[in-house]
Amino acid sequence: MKRFLAVMMVLCIGTLAFAGGQADGGKIKIGVSMPTKSLQRWNQDGANMKTQLEKSGYAVDLQYGGDNDIPTQVAQLENMISTGCKALVIAAIDGSSLTEVLKEAKAKGVAVISYDRLIMNSDAVSYYATFDNFKVGTMQGQYIESQLNLKTAAGPFNIELFTGAPDDNNVNFFFGGAMSILEPYIKSGKLKVLSGQTTKAQCATNNWSTEESQKRMENLITANKYGPNGTKLHAVLSSNDSVANGITNALVGAGYTKANFPILTGQDCDITSTKNLIAGTQSMSVFKDTRTLAAKAVEMVNAIAKGTTVSVNDTKTYDNGVKVIPSFLCDPVVVTTANYKEALLDSGYYKPADIQ
Ligand code: BGC
Repeated sequence: MKRFLAVMMVLCIGTLAFAGGQADGGKIKIGVSMPTKSLQRWNQDGANMKTQLEKSGYAVDLQYGGDNDIPTQVAQLENMISTGCKALVIAAIDGSSLTEVLKEAKAKGVAVISYDRLIMNSDAVSYYATFDNFKVGTMQGQYIESQLNLKTAAGPFNIELFTGAPDDNNVNFFFGGAMSILEPYIKSGKLKVLSGQTTKAQCATNNWSTEESQKRMENLITANKYGPNGTKLHAVLSSNDSVANGITNALVGAGYTKANFPILTGQDCDITSTKNLIAGTQSMSVFKDTRTLAAKAVEMVNAIAKGTTVSVNDTKTYDNGVKVIPSFLCDPVVVTTANYKEALLDSGYYKPADIQ
C-alpha cells in the first residue's frame, strides 16, 4: 500500500498536461514574467527564456514588472491569463503578493512555474526551478571563513553584514546559509560586528538597491570609524552583486584601494561586479548561469505540455506555506580572479570586451 501511494505521488508530482483552448497563431502561448529590467540578470533570464521557448515552438509573452512594481506584475499576469497563456513562468517581485491572481490561473488550468524565487501562499504553483540558494549563502560564508582563516587564526576580525530585499524569499536561504557558517564565529567573538546589526531585518536592502546599500555602508563607515587609516574592516558579507556594488562605492569613497580592500562577497557575476573583481574591489561572486536555469524551466514547460514526467531533484525543502513545491536546484559556482576566465569567458557567458 505504502509503495502504491509513493508511486501515485511521483506520478502526481511528475505529470500535468496543459488545459485545452486558445492558441496564438496555432502555437501554444507561454507567459514569462520577470521582476525588473533594472538588473542585468533579469534581462538575461528573460531573453534566454524567450529564445529557448521559441526554439521549442511556443509563442512567448515576455513582460518585466516595471521597476520592481508589484501592481504592474499582477496586471501583466492577469493579462497573460486572460489572453490564453497555457503556462506562466514567474520570477516574483514579492513572493507573497500573487495569491489572488494565481487563483485565476488555477481556475483556468494554467500551469505555474516559480522561477528563481519561490511564490508563497499559493496552491497554483506546480514546480520551482532555481539554484541551490542555501548553498549560495554557505559559499559566501565559507569564502570569508577561508580568507580570514577563521578555523585557526586568533582574530578578532571586524565584519559587517548585508543581505537583500526582505520580500524575496531567497533572502532567507542566502542569509541563512551564510550565517550558518559565520554565526558561530560571531558568537565566540572571533568575528565582531561593531554596528551590532546582525538580524536579517537589520541587514536587509530594499529592492536589492545599490543606492541603499551604499548609503548604509557609508553610515557604517562613519559610525564605526572604519577606514584604511581608521578601524580595520576585514570583511563585508553581501548577498548579491547589486548590493556589493553599493558597498564597493562606499569603500572606495572612504579611500580603500585594491591593496587594503576588505573581503567582499557577491552573487550573479554581473558585469560591474566582474570588473570590480578584476580591479580588486570585490573578492568573489557566485555564478548562477542564467542559461542553465532557463533551460531547466523550458524543460519543465515541455514536459508539462507533453504530459511526461517533470524532472525535479528536491521534494522537501521549498514549502511555500500551502504545500511543498517540487523543485529543481541548479548548481552555483564560486567565481574569483582565479577562475573567472574559465567560468565566464570560456563558457561564452561574456565576451572579453563585455568585462573590459
Ligand atoms: C536572485 C539573485 C538576484 C536578486 C536581485 C534574487 O532573488 O536569486 O540572483 O541577485 O534576486 O535581483
